[in-house]
Amino acid sequence: MEIAQTTHSTAAKDHLVRCISCGEATGTLAADFRCLHCGDLLEVDFPKWSEGLAPDPAALKALWRERRTSHQGLDTSGVWRFREMLPALDDWVSLITLREGNTPLYDLPRCARSAGVELLQAKHQGMNPTGSFKDTGMTVATSFARQNKFRWVACASTGNTSASMAAYAARGGMRSVVIIPEGKIAWGKLSQSLDYGAVTCQLRTDFDGCVRVLNDIIRRYPIYLLNSVNPYRLEGQKTAAIELLEQLDWQVPDHVIVPGGNLGNNAALGKAFLEMKRLGLADSAPKISVIQAEGANPLYRTVHEKRGRELVPVQAETLATAIRIGNPASWKKSLRVIEATGGCVEQVSEAEIATAKAEIGADGVGCEPASAVTLAGLKKLVKSGFVQLSESIVLILTGHVLKDPEYTIQFHRGDLSVPRMADEEFRERTAKQRKSPIVLDADADRVLRILETEDKRDG
Ligand code: F0G
Repeated sequence: MEIAQTTHSTAAKDHLVRCISCGEATGTLAADFRCLHCGDLLEVDFPKWSEGLAPDPAALKALWRERRTSHQGLDTSGVWRFREMLPALDDWVSLITLREGNTPLYDLPRCARSAGVELLQAKHQGMNPTGSFKDTGMTVATSFARQNKFRWVACASTGNTSASMAAYAARGGMRSVVIIPEGKIAWGKLSQSLDYGAVTCQLRTDFDGCVRVLNDIIRRYPIYLLNSVNPYRLEGQKTAAIELLEQLDWQVPDHVIVPGGNLGNNAALGKAFLEMKRLGLADSAPKISVIQAEGANPLYRTVHEKRGRELVPVQAETLATAIRIGNPASWKKSLRVIEATGGCVEQVSEAEIATAKAEIGADGVGCEPASAVTLAGLKKLVKSGFVQLSESIVLILTGHVLKDPEYTIQFHRGDLSVPRMADEEFRERTAKQRKSPIVLDADADRVLRILETEDKRDG
């Protein structure tokens, strides 16, 4: 069946959806969320903020604090608690929430020492209901899908978006289609989309190939697209930045460091920081820096080879499968935020990612490989002098440690192979971080001998 590209109307009173390139505001959204005029990405805009109807910052802060003690559905979500910064649904019956957001901010003292900085904190977005930051965006976008009466929702994914989408679609009584690359997807994520009841299609291609196929599908079938080109998703993802500043008593950190894949998340966080500055909720915005894996570094190359003027797509390859993306959709939005906040783009090797992941684990926090690029990147930014030792830094950890246990086990057993380094050398370099399981006879003496050896080693 071939039908015209499906569109739906926003008909919203509180917000506009506007093209990031030609500025055209639209009341009609194309199925692929591209500007009908010039084909670029869209973003949500709140015209009332420019019309002298901006909310009072002190009143907002008090209201949000008060809601933390409320047991009302909307207030218990760490996303919708900040609803004054979000597009409103016309009818709240459409709301789908799993009480997302409300994620912890942790000190990382050992990681701080390893990076050579005084104060290092991590906002752990992996502590969301499905184990990744995607939930904060999904509660908003799936609610709009439901309000627009869609039966089907879909996404192309490296695993976390699909897990999150499948859960929210199930909660909202919608069907979901997951398009993921065959292989190169962490088991935790694949198992989630099956358990939440999605139609899960593993295509013999990579993430970028999955995006191409899905774009074809949505032109031919009435499906609501939930990739991060959907501007409603990024609105929800903004709230991690608001919650972070609230947790810091509205003291703005010097740096926020974010992993970069399809590049929606750093753009969303940046939008939030700039909006908070505009509304007087914060005096300034932190420098937002994006870190990519060396084998999946299109933004890094775009900045260093083309001065940000045109995207340099790459054939992506990294063991951090969440960010194995060569042709990122939101590269322009991302560059705008980096430029507006004075941040930078860095790339890190597979060995650096693996080491950083184990260090975050050793602080009792843990994360999936893609999240660990933040610590690996920070170390490079400290060495280059971009980050000063006394500055305050927040890493955005995007996914839970249990998302990709296979990677973790391979690393600690010494079975992880990284590109451009002999296995032997990698094992030697990471000996301090690795903790291989020890197989012993069932004998207390044997276990105690191990403890004595460990004690001697600790001195
Ligand atoms: N970290 C994790 C754990 C991710 O899953 C992703 C993206 C990113 C970082 C990068 O964020 O794309 O906004 O720059 N995962 C997507 C997915 C692509 O399909 O789950 P981004």
